[in-house]
Amino acid sequence: MHQPPEFHDRMLSLGLARVSEAAAMASAHLIGHGDEKAADQAAVNAMREQLNQLDIRGVVVIGEGERDEAPMLYIGEKVGSGEGPEVDIALDPLEGTALTAKDMPNALTVIAMGPRNSMLHAPDVYMEKLAIGPGYPVDVVTLDMEPVERIRALAAAKGCETSDINVCVLDRPRHDDLVKEIRRTGAAIRFITDGDVAGIMHCAEPHLTGIDMYMGAGGAPEGVLAASALKCMGGQMYGKLLFRNDDERGRAAKAGITDLNRVYTLNDMVTRHVIFAATGVTDGSILPGVKRMPNRYTTETLLMRSKTGSVRRMTYSNPV
Ligand code: FBP
Repeated sequence: MHQPPEFHDRMLSLGLARVSEAAAMASAHLIGHGDEKAADQAAVNAMREQLNQLDIRGVVVIGEGERDEAPMLYIGEKVGSGEGPEVDIALDPLEGTALTAKDMPNALTVIAMGPRNSMLHAPDVYMEKLAIGPGYPVDVVTLDMEPVERIRALAAAKGCETSDINVCVLDRPRHDDLVKEIRRTGAAIRFITDGDVAGIMHCAEPHLTGIDMYMGAGGAPEGVLAASALKCMGGQMYGKLLFRNDDERGRAAKAGITDLNRVYTLNDMVTRHVIFAATGVTDGSILPGVKRMPNRYTTETLLMRSKTGSVRRMTYSNPV
């Protein structure tokens, strides 16, 4: 029987960057126009069109939602030309829809690809997340520790005071207690209003971003995307799915998850080597946003491979 070819991450990475660039350019004219849905839809359409030009047998494992909720790029949707390797795809055509609609920093288009069955099929529920950058002993901080303990342990490992640690947290009422705990240690907090994929990616380059650690609950699908990014950039991450009701537990069952209390490490969420691309939509601390000149758009894309740890920054300019 004819076997599909193996996943060659090197050959596919440029294709992935094009997918990410296309989504960013498509949503660019909607930056700052107050319409989250239109910006998201433009990015979804462009991402899907470009994905379907790649020679892959792709399945969306992290997407826009379940089939009955999302008309395009839904979980389980087959994408690609139908020729080529069998791959899993995690995507968020517009990570930070509100950031885009309000022209606030760090909205990105994000996509990761790996061989079939390489990514956690995270249901659309919240995930408790903890992330740090590279260079620390394994498990120097864990989700089992109290937040205060984590900050003390990280400060000791970094060789600094707890007041020198900066923690990134989504600004949500559900984090009020977490924030009080962090304040007790004297650590600083960088609040973000949205976009925790970027929030977690900040941990991988603390010398540039000033962020040492990410803590708090955000979307589980975004957790898998962030894990894919850190797998390429280096760092540690933990995630635990949070369920508020039976509907959410049902979503986990549908995704094939049986242990509802499991703590996932980065390598549990992304089990094999992946490629990851993100393009800046609005200006941010990781990537500049799309630049719009009268007849030309320019984007910057971060393209990474976990196998080699290679990180490329690609500028793309195209007449529109
Ligand atoms: P969208 O791009 O779908 O708007 O999501 C942005 C985001 O901020 C994620 O980065 C984060 O994981 C999640 O929403 C947090 O959810 P909530 O807004 O419900 O706290």
